[in-house]
Amino acid sequence: MKVITTISELDAELSAARAENRSIGLVPTMGALHAGHLSLVERAIAENDVTVVSIFVNPTQFNDKTDLANYPRTLEADCALLEKAGATIAFAPSVDTMYPEPDTRHFSYPPTDTVMEGSRRPGHFNGVCQIVSKLFMLVKPVRAYFGEKDFQQIAVIKAMVADLELPVEICACPIVREASGLALSSRNTLLTEAERELAVNISRTLKESVGYAQTHSVSETQRHVTDALNAIDGLRVEYYEIVNGDTLQAISDWNDAPYVVGCITVFCGGRPVRLIDNIKYKVTC
Ligand code: PAF
Repeated sequence: MKVITTISELDAELSAARAENRSIGLVPTMGALHAGHLSLVERAIAENDVTVVSIFVNPTQFNDKTDLANYPRTLEADCALLEKAGATIAFAPSVDTMYPEPDTRHFSYPPTDTVMEGSRRPGHFNGVCQIVSKLFMLVKPVRAYFGEKDFQQIAVIKAMVADLELPVEICACPIVREASGLALSSRNTLLTEAERELAVNISRTLKESVGYAQTHSVSETQRHVTDALNAIDGLRVEYYEIVNGDTLQAISDWNDAPYVVGCITVFCGGRPVRLIDNIKYKVTC
């Protein structure tokens, strides 16, 4: 595996691959890699000739500077994991490399990017679109892989790809969970052991709510999940929304959409650590 930090070197490597008609898969990450990322990398390796994994903590998507400063950075360990997994290239540029000038582009895909995370983290999805579009332009992948834990992010990226008519297939990959049910996240490393035990309640409550939803309305289910988690000392629900999984618009009746997903954000512990998760209540096909 090659670790590349400059655009010129990346370009040289990928131009050679493209000249040989080798397909390129991209897994964009912010590092602190875990088994969830590795599941994306494994799928990319299985489906493409060349797998590029970008490792870049993108400052423009953080609306909270403390969050950016605290974000875990573990480049050496990440590269060791990627080497073992069989990735072709780890692309780990500096902030100056990706943003030699401030990025003034503005991306707006309402309603996908205005609800849930969009309304709580102003500028977040604009920053995500800035970096992901740059990566797409540099790598020119045939396919790009994203985890469904960031459910809304996938919808926003799909909207951007459609808007810019980019020739890349967006591959959504299932959430990977610990045996406890906790969704894998780079932010989990910020949790103490006690907080980790608290956090397990998030996935447990979401899972239980699928049974509850069989005999209760959307608003009752929403309240049930929110109240159950808020009743636990150390957890605070920021939002729990039950939405049409295609449009991300809140639904009021289970029959409002063929694909229904519950999306949650919970503050965990004293610092606190902001955790997100989601559950599918109804799935098409
Ligand atoms: O999901 C993430 O880790 C980031 O939002 C992404 C897609 C790598 C862009 O920085």
